[in-house]
Amino acid sequence: MTVVIDGKQASADVVEAVRTAAASLEQETGLRTGLAVVIVGDDPASHTYVGAKGRMAKHCGFNSIQHTLPADTTQDALMALVASLNADPAIHGILVQLPLPGHLKSEPVIQSILPEKDVDGLHVVNAGKLATGDRETGLVSCTPAGAMLLVRKIHGDDLSGLNALVIGRSNLFGKPMAQLLLMANATVTIGHSKSRDLPGLARQADILVAAVGRPEMVRADWVKPGATVIDVGINRIAAPERGEGKSRLVGDVAFAEVKPVAAAISPVPGGVGPMTIAMLMANTVIAAYRAAGRTPPRF
Ligand code: GUN
Repeated sequence: MTVVIDGKQASADVVEAVRTAAASLEQETGLRTGLAVVIVGDDPASHTYVGAKGRMAKHCGFNSIQHTLPADTTQDALMALVASLNADPAIHGILVQLPLPGHLKSEPVIQSILPEKDVDGLHVVNAGKLATGDRETGLVSCTPAGAMLLVRKIHGDDLSGLNALVIGRSNLFGKPMAQLLLMANATVTIGHSKSRDLPGLARQADILVAAVGRPEMVRADWVKPGATVIDVGINRIAAPERGEGKSRLVGDVAFAEVKPVAAAISPVPGGVGPMTIAMLMANTVIAAYRAAGRTPPRF
C-alpha cells in the first residue's frame, strides 16, 4: 500500500514541539520568542499568508508583530524598518513577505536582514552556511526544510545509496533542497527546463522532488516503482466538473496515476504546503534559543 504522507499531521507535530520549546525558553530565561512579519501593499493573497503566519506565531506563544506598510512605501523607509527590527532585542525572526510591490527591490531588503534573524533562510550567509554544511549556526529556507522533514519520515536521517532528483533549481527551493539531500548522503541530481531527458532522470530516482510550477507534469511512467515522491507544486487549475468558474489545486505530480507506482507520495493540498509555516515557527524559536545562548531543539 502506498503511503500518502500526511503533511498536516507532520506540521502539527512540529508546531507542538515549537510551542513546548518556546514555553521552556521563556520559563527558564524569561525570553519570549519574537517574530516580526512585514508586509507592503494590499495584495490579498499575501495578506492571507501573513495573517496565517501571525496566528500561528501567537499559537506558538510568540510575541507576534505585524508591520503593514502602504503600497507606496519607499525603499529607504522599508530598509529603515528592517534596520530597527535588526536592532530590537525582542525580535528574533524577521520575515518580509514577498513579492514586494514593483517599485521596490527585494534583494537589498532581504540581504539587509541580520542573518541570525533571517527566518526565511534567504540571506546569502544562510545559503552559504547550508552549502558548506553548517546547520549549527545557519537557518534553512522553510519549504525545503519542511520537504526534507517529510523525506526523513520515510527514509530516516541517512539517505546513503539512494538517488534523489530535484526538479527545479530556484534559490528559494531547488538549490537548498538539493543541499539538504546531499548533506543526508543522497546522490543528488538537479533537473530543470534545459535538462535533456527529465523522464529518464526521474526513473532513476528513489526520491523524486518536483518543484516546477507545472500542473501534473510528473506522470506515472516517470516514476521508479517504489520511489518516494515529494510534490512541492501548488497550481490552481480550472475544474469545470465542479461547476462553472470553479477551480482546484493540483501539484506538479499527476497524483492519481503516480500513487500506485510510488511507495510514498505527498499530496497537494496537505503535503509540503502545511510544512512551510511550521518550519518558519521552528526557525524562529531556533533563532531565539541562539540569541539566549542556548542550544536549540532540532526539528
Ligand atoms: N511569499 C510566498 N512565500 C513566501 C515565503 O516563504 N517567504 C516570504 N518572505 N515571502 C513569501
